[in-house]
Amino acid sequence: MERHEFLAKLGIGLAAVCTGCSLVSCGSNPKNEDPTPGSDGNIFTTNLNTELLNIGDAKVSNGVILARTAAGNTADAFSAVQVACTHEGTFINYNQAGGIYICPLHGSRFSKEGSVLQGPAVNSLKKYNVVISGTNLNVRA
Ligand code: FES
Repeated sequence: MERHEFLAKLGIGLAAVCTGCSLVSCGSNPKNEDPTPGSDGNIFTTNLNTELLNIGDAKVSNGVILARTAAGNTADAFSAVQVACTHEGTFINYNQAGGIYICPLHGSRFSKEGSVLQGPAVNSLKKYNVVISGTNLNVRA
């Protein structure tokens, strides 16, 4: 498990642990660029035999946070949205109890579909498509 996966699983965003943050995704100069898909069209792929096994598990890769929101290996059991908050670019976390995304910096809340539920963010998160192929889950634009 990579560090960002571990932190996402704990519900701790990178910004929450980087006081005096120098990451490009933090602060008032967010980098909300669209992730670049690979030649296969996938932004990233996850093996469902080994990752995201439990409801609430989340993974961050290539600018996207992917969360398991329900049981089963069907596309509607997952949510994939941009990981950078639309307010100032802090990495958001998936909150299993609420079934929503929460930004740890100023508290914006977003639905699983990326809509703003509570500001200060005013713009929705970009939502990505989830495609299941065998035991692989592909996140696509
Ligand atoms: S950076 Fe997310 S609410 Fe401000």
